[in-house]
Amino acid sequence: MPYDPAPPPAKRFKPGSAFFRRDNKTEPGMLHASALLELQRKQLPIFQAKAQLSARLRQLNSAVLIGETGSGKTTQVPQYLYEAGIAKQGVIAITQPRRVAAISLASRVAEERRMQLGKLVGYTVRFEDVTSPETKLKFMTDGMLLREAIGDPLLLRYAVVVLDEAHERTMHTDVLFGVVKTAQRRRGELNKLPLKIIVMSATMDVDLFAEYFNNAPVLYLEGRQHPIQIYYTKQPQPDYLQAALVSIFQIHQEAPPSHDILVFMTGQEEIEALARTCRDIAKHLPESCSPMVVITLYASLPPAQQLRVFQPAPKGCRKVILSTNIAETSVTISGIKYVIDSGMVKAKHFNPGSGLEVLAVQRVSKAQAWQRTGRAGRENSGFCYRLYTESEFDDLAPMTVPEILRCNLASVILQLMALGIPDVMNFDFMSKPSSESIRSAVVQLELLGAVERKEEQVSLTALGKKMASFPLEPRYAKTILLSPDFSCSEEVLSIVSILSVDTVLYNPPARREEVLAVRRKFTSSEGDHVTLLGIYRAFKKVSGNKEWCRENFVNSRNMALVKEVQAQLREICLKLNLKLESCGADMGKVRRCLAHGMFVNAAELQPDGSYVALDSHQTVAIHPSSVLFQAKPAYVVFNELLSTSRCYMRELSLVDADWLLEAAPQYFSRKLRHSKI
Ligand code: CDP
Ligand code: MG
Repeated sequence: MPYDPAPPPAKRFKPGSAFFRRDNKTEPGMLHASALLELQRKQLPIFQAKAQLSARLRQLNSAVLIGETGSGKTTQVPQYLYEAGIAKQGVIAITQPRRVAAISLASRVAEERRMQLGKLVGYTVRFEDVTSPETKLKFMTDGMLLREAIGDPLLLRYAVVVLDEAHERTMHTDVLFGVVKTAQRRRGELNKLPLKIIVMSATMDVDLFAEYFNNAPVLYLEGRQHPIQIYYTKQPQPDYLQAALVSIFQIHQEAPPSHDILVFMTGQEEIEALARTCRDIAKHLPESCSPMVVITLYASLPPAQQLRVFQPAPKGCRKVILSTNIAETSVTISGIKYVIDSGMVKAKHFNPGSGLEVLAVQRVSKAQAWQRTGRAGRENSGFCYRLYTESEFDDLAPMTVPEILRCNLASVILQLMALGIPDVMNFDFMSKPSSESIRSAVVQLELLGAVERKEEQVSLTALGKKMASFPLEPRYAKTILLSPDFSCSEEVLSIVSILSVDTVLYNPPARREEVLAVRRKFTSSEGDHVTLLGIYRAFKKVSGNKEWCRENFVNSRNMALVKEVQAQLREICLKLNLKLESCGADMGKVRRCLAHGMFVNAAELQPDGSYVALDSHQTVAIHPSSVLFQAKPAYVVFNELLSTSRCYMRELSLVDADWLLEAAPQYFSRKLRHSKI
């Protein structure tokens, strides 16, 4: 046994109060679906507090509400507010850091109210708006509400803004805190209808939120957390994938099949690889072992497949869910008795000194580890296997560092300036980024021509204003805006749209050889952007034929979304009077345009065969998934950096050194001082 049992700290895991215990006398299977939903609503811990909570929320201007994941905050609070008549004054917005959550929660609430989605209950996420004038309960990503604030800084359509999943502290949530707080104050000053702000969190550390929102009262919901037995490994585990595998099968052989397992891993590739190994092993287990269904869950999975995690496994069969941190707080899955926590998470990190933003696998914080553990105790007592030692746990950071303190701020600063915030350096951030980070973002925007500095005053340029009209990272917006100069707007719009949806290609590891063979006909020596464009054109040519998608390992739903995204981006271009032309087969124009828009992400081949990112002088390599992996182009531009064992560039295009120089002569003459251009 690799584990040493350790008792859970008594403080965090109180046995659920008898008050909230599930009603076991009713047989849910015997009920009509809508009656079942109604019953489920009444069994949620929050239901006991409904009357009191509604009364308090009606009274308060700002409130912080805390309750364990699954207690009913997100699905019920908006309905309670609605039932209390608050929506008569305006729309109730509920913001979510994740797209998936916004969509699935809106569907759930519409279902609970027995309404069609898009009527009373709707959602808005980037590139998708399922609302109507009737919509009063509006689930939206926090990024979308921020965009709306550009046109309407006082958020006058809204009576309430519910800032949900505040503990996640994503960059958009953090900026939204400031924007919403300002709107509330300004509405007060202008004698407009007051704006109610409700901050909801699944973790206890909310002093910062309460303080920030003018000492808002904190309301606690009693959870129904059952005791959880925690196990740590005796030794540190250098290979957490292997450790996860061993733990899954150890539990599988010992526990009754109705006890489901939830495993926290870091990302799609790793999760798919582990799923494949689990399925292989499960096939070869002795007859005496119960069967196992392995289900994966990560943000880029098509929604229909994500929903599979909620389906119960067939009788006598164990469900094993391999998930990213998306199952930490965003979704609640019933039936989980065991949690296996790798202790790792994939997150972005930005070094303002080097200007490098990388995605890397790193240790979770204690707060995250507790959240993960809590998933095992929703319905009954449970077990959590931590794939690290107790002393490793002790060394974890107490809290996750808010994204705003570790990411590239360029797009945030651009948005704040578009919002008309006069002095971004002194914006009322809940956690203020270092002035170095803010300055580095301003420098980047300056390089892109989005802002200009006169003495110490930074202001948005005409180009910057146009860039802010796109719901895109500044460099993509810039690439689109430049594309008419190279007569390739249609192509650039397609490429940016492809990059804006989650993976359009489907890469089942079990069929790797087959995938490679099929893809070969699309592969372009000019790089991944041109290759992806080719696949997208082929997809359009067959009008999205499902059979064709299956044969070519193309994710048909995401590819269809590309078309929608493109239509919306085109609309923005038309509003800006951009000339939209196609360059036909001349992909050189497209690459030249990419070089001009993304020159900050350029890398140069070194004599020893490695690459150096020109902006930061960091050593980088071509990711094995790139079509340029086997090639050695002298110069490339790339979309992003991923750091695993090495720092990899993902999605690249071959470019000419001359193009980079013409794109930013001063910058490159500085950057390439030691280089051979
Ligand atoms: O926000 P919080 O984590 O407190 O809970 P919630 O999202 O309102 O979910 C409350 C309950 O609704 C969950 O425990 C699930 O049982 C159910 N639910 C569901 O079945 N399907 C969804 N898409 C969302 C919630
Ligand atoms: Mg919630």
